[in-house]
Amino acid sequence: MATDAWWRDAVIYQIYPRSFADGNGDGMGDLPGITARLPQLRELGVDAVWLSPFYPSPQHDAGYDVADYRGVDPRFGSLGDADKLIGTAHDLGLKVIVDLVPNHTSSDHEWFKAALAAGPGSPERERYIFRDGDQAPNSWQSVFGGSAWQQLPDGQWFLHLFDVSQPDLNWDHPEVRAEFLDILRFWLDRGVDGFRVDVAHGLIKDAELTDWSAPSVILGGLEPVGPPPPMWDQEGVHEIYRQWRAVLDEYEGGRILVAEAWVQPEERLARYVRPDEMHQAFNFPYLEAPWLPAELRAVIDSSLAANDAVGATTTWVLSNHDVVRHASRLGFPAGTKRMPGIGVGDPQPDQVLGLRRARAATLLMLGLPGSAYLYQGEELGLPEHTQLPDEYREDPAWERSGHTERGRDGCRVPIPWEADAPSYGFGPAEASWLPQPPIWAEYALDRQVDVPGSTYELYRSALAARREHELGSGELVWLASDTDALAFRNGGVTVVTNFGAEPAALPDGARVLLSSEPLADDGRIPTDVTVWAVV
Ligand code: GLC
Repeated sequence: MATDAWWRDAVIYQIYPRSFADGNGDGMGDLPGITARLPQLRELGVDAVWLSPFYPSPQHDAGYDVADYRGVDPRFGSLGDADKLIGTAHDLGLKVIVDLVPNHTSSDHEWFKAALAAGPGSPERERYIFRDGDQAPNSWQSVFGGSAWQQLPDGQWFLHLFDVSQPDLNWDHPEVRAEFLDILRFWLDRGVDGFRVDVAHGLIKDAELTDWSAPSVILGGLEPVGPPPPMWDQEGVHEIYRQWRAVLDEYEGGRILVAEAWVQPEERLARYVRPDEMHQAFNFPYLEAPWLPAELRAVIDSSLAANDAVGATTTWVLSNHDVVRHASRLGFPAGTKRMPGIGVGDPQPDQVLGLRRARAATLLMLGLPGSAYLYQGEELGLPEHTQLPDEYREDPAWERSGHTERGRDGCRVPIPWEADAPSYGFGPAEASWLPQPPIWAEYALDRQVDVPGSTYELYRSALAARREHELGSGELVWLASDTDALAFRNGGVTVVTNFGAEPAALPDGARVLLSSEPLADDGRIPTDVTVWAVV
């Protein structure tokens, strides 16, 4: 694959800086901690890393509330540390994608502080969405719960689709547009290979701010099919990404834009990755699909068809920092709706079943053509922390939902590297910012390296075989299979997943390359197992 199109078949590993590696021992992850561990990601076999935000921020939404788009929060290091991280990654042959949060700033951003100080009617307020009135301007709800409007003592209201500390920007304002073009250049000039664009479907709101009383759900399920709600997926967003694309195309080496857009159906999502817009979009319909063969096959087909129609590569993803980890999600009966967090007193997943299915799901995903996203810790088979005591919860959704949604902290717990070290090798401190459960020891990297059959070794072998057989740039051809199995060929590799209660057969003469669990004595594929074979 030509280097400029590296992303078309890339495996991209998401680093959540707060929870990856703590270099300075303050209990929170940081950039030097990440840089020191990058060789291990090379060893795992990924092509690129995407870092969740590390910018100066009051951290009311774990850094997705950005106070300065051109800096690094002292909690995570310095701009010099970011440069070192980018340089080290490049030396190792890894690309670096950073997170860009254009829908809203932090209320600590100098623009918002200026808007508050300048008062109603001022040009400073024009950069955000301020309105007058005795009542909230409309019925919109915040994604995290409660009204999406906040009234100030001077009587004006401002819009915040997320936390009250995340005021929405006014993207009809030329200064907002110019500012983000400049921010793109700032990071492109420092050498980043791309941007993951946060809430890419939210920047433009319907001009009338039409009422919409259904919850503004994005993280807990996709909007039903139908006209897009007035705050999401408006036509005007596309013009913005065309402008951004033109800037990226001025740079060498294949710099990319990745849309976080909770949009459906797939044809709507594919509009974000038309040839002159973004390069990739996260495939949330795939993430949301139940562990059932017909549903998975349908979403694979519709994703490939929608992206093919616009010439884009299809992406695949099972976990990220906003959803219950797939090793836990899949531990509930197939078809259970994805829940917004799991806590003490909630129904608990079957961890053994969840891990077994997660391994099979990952092997199925990595067998598909296109680009795949991994979330830190999934290569260890990490489950959600489903027993996190509520007093530790930091996700604004927990408070704003009136404690009806546990929120996303359970997938954000610092990851274990060494079973017998303080904070399981996350860093020198005894305690990490979110407490790690005692079961983390058995998932630690040093308990899995070179251990045949460990989840880590399964990921490492799969990534190596995926590269060797060029599965990322292959083509999918479905094969006939038992009704409870999915079978396809991708180039020279046959991938079979058995969802049924009965063992499934492998094609005649197949030589097994990889299997998510040992096969039955008669060579057949047990329940909830994926096999890669060459025939
Ligand atoms: C995105 C992020 C999420 C954040 C939200 C608001 O969905 O992935 O973590 O809370 O945007 O910025």
